[in-house]
Amino acid sequence: MAKKAKAAKTDYTQKVKFVVNSFDPNTESFSRSARDLNVTNLTTVLDALIGINESEDKKISMRYSCRMGICGSCAMVINGRPALACETNVLREQSNTITVEPMHGHPILRGLVTDFDDFFEHHKAMKPWIMRNNPSEKYSHEKEFMQTDAQRDNFLPFSECIKCGLCVDACPVSNINKNFAGPQALAQAYRYYADSKDQAGDKRLEYLDTGDNVWGCEFSGSCSKVCPKSVDPAFAIQLLKTAIAKKRADELFSKKDEV
Ligand code: SF4
Ligand code: FES
Repeated sequence: MAKKAKAAKTDYTQKVKFVVNSFDPNTESFSRSARDLNVTNLTTVLDALIGINESEDKKISMRYSCRMGICGSCAMVINGRPALACETNVLREQSNTITVEPMHGHPILRGLVTDFDDFFEHHKAMKPWIMRNNPSEKYSHEKEFMQTDAQRDNFLPFSECIKCGLCVDACPVSNINKNFAGPQALAQAYRYYADSKDQAGDKRLEYLDTGDNVWGCEFSGSCSKVCPKSVDPAFAIQLLKTAIAKKRADELFSKKDEV
């Protein structure tokens, strides 16, 4: 007989100071509001924010949906660190004060909500889909495109991205150069480059071989530290740099052979 799942236990409650730095687009300034909240060992930052909105007249604008680390929409800065509100347990922050504010690396719209237009433009620029030499295969191919476990494992960890934008927020280059593709887009570029079903590898590398793409990365590694899905964008970018360097060397040696 299947074992019954144990309900999570609420062991204790504690009082914490909850500070919200909210952006007001009318005055283009931040307002700070603080309150004491009773939280349990199960309360997440998102639970606390929802509780505030249910009990106070002045609502905090915020974005969320799944409440379980899947949709990527509740990204914000929590106690100075970019994080998902639904995945951040209040008491595990081990601080009597929790401060939340919108991400700084994206334009701020209102309250805790940021604008993702640029983020998705960078993402789209990577052509995040499988490209085949013969696109009509999609309709005419009679069998699956087979892939070994090893071929799948080449790209699988990079396909876990939930597009939360935390890595971009943490990236020092993205914060000063809005033309830089950023860790999320570049990790997705690697995800498709490394997929054995994709046939646009060289074209992808040519596109990525610029200062606003892979060579813009200064390898601070902060993107990978904040990623809630262990995508490791910093590693993906280094793999792209290696692939570009190898492509250049191959081209150089093939030219020499022709002489
Ligand atoms: S790579 Fe990680 S941090 Fe960046 S958008 Fe994807 S899931 Fe979020
Ligand atoms: S609400 Fe979906 S990731 Fe947090």
